[in-house]
Amino acid sequence: MTMNQINVLFIGAGRMAQALIAGIKQDEQFSLIVANKGNKERLAFVREMYGVHTTDHWQKAVSRVNIIVLALPPENHDVILAELKQLVSGQLIVTIAAGISPTYLESELPSGTAVAWVMPNTAAKLGQSITLYALGHYVNDKQHEWIRNLIRGIGDFEFVTEHQIHELTAITGSAPAFVYLMASVLEKLAEETGISAQQARKLVAQMIAGSTEMLKTNQDYFDLIDEVATPGGSTAAGVEVLLQSRFPELLREAISACRKKAQELISIETY
Ligand SMILES: NC(=O)c1ccc[n+]([C@@H]2O[C@H](COP(=O)([O-])OP(=O)(O)OC[C@H]3O[C@@H](n4cnc5c(N)ncnc54)[C@H](OP(=O)(O)O)[C@@H]3O)[C@@H](O)[C@H]2O)c1
Repeated sequence: MTMNQINVLFIGAGRMAQALIAGIKQDEQFSLIVANKGNKERLAFVREMYGVHTTDHWQKAVSRVNIIVLALPPENHDVILAELKQLVSGQLIVTIAAGISPTYLESELPSGTAVAWVMPNTAAKLGQSITLYALGHYVNDKQHEWIRNLIRGIGDFEFVTEHQIHELTAITGSAPAFVYLMASVLEKLAEETGISAQQARKLVAQMIAGSTEMLKTNQDYFDLIDEVATPGGSTAAGVEVLLQSRFPELLREAISACRKKAQELISIETY
């Protein structure tokens, strides 16, 4: 660790930590040290795979780092925060855990501690996450920039409020499962025509990828639909079935169910 580097301690070395580490490694300003709960094989893998420092005693590293990333399950935060409370002195504390908001972190850490909440999705491992982040009250501009540089490597991101993360995680974090569900049905239908599973996957994945690119043009939804669905044509017949089957309302209900469940889980985990 040199004077010019920003030293980052990861507590947690699992899937999401590794996605972040892989991204951060592209940025030479960061020097990483990684700890976990005790899975030695995993820690050794992370050390070799990403060329980072590791430690069995994260507590000893705290005074040497600028940023601490909590990359562990929500229910394991309390024990770590209780220890951190005794050790932090000016470090930025970032969690990536569902439900562990800046308000909660501030309530558990010494007054004035800079905290942030980063919420990636599973596409982070391909560098394609859309990550939401929110800041506590004491994050300065330099630390805000550090956070953006930390998450740049896992995809795109948006700075929102803590309340918005609670509400938007259903869309950025959960809704990919809705897309996969839709894709699985379309893939099965494609296979029924006699093409291979591999061909069906390619076809459906590229159809979604192409649609994604069209969405990114910001063209109006109705124009996009109209472009495909000529009135009285075959696509319009399919769209009509979806509308009559309350497809938009069903999506609303699915998002509401995710939000409701997340709230229930948060109240179990943090109180
Ligand atoms: N996976 C996702 O797509 C995703 C998306 C958004 C947010 N997140 C959030 O990211 C966090 C991590 O998820 P994950 O999928 O990476 O989990 P994971 O693969 O299960 O890894 C969890 C890591 O936390 C470590 N850990 C647990 N308790 C600990 C403790 N007391 N002290 C130190 N380390 C501890 C584990 O240590 P060992 O290695 O010793 O087992 C492991 O390295 C969760 O809060 C999750 O909500 C995940």
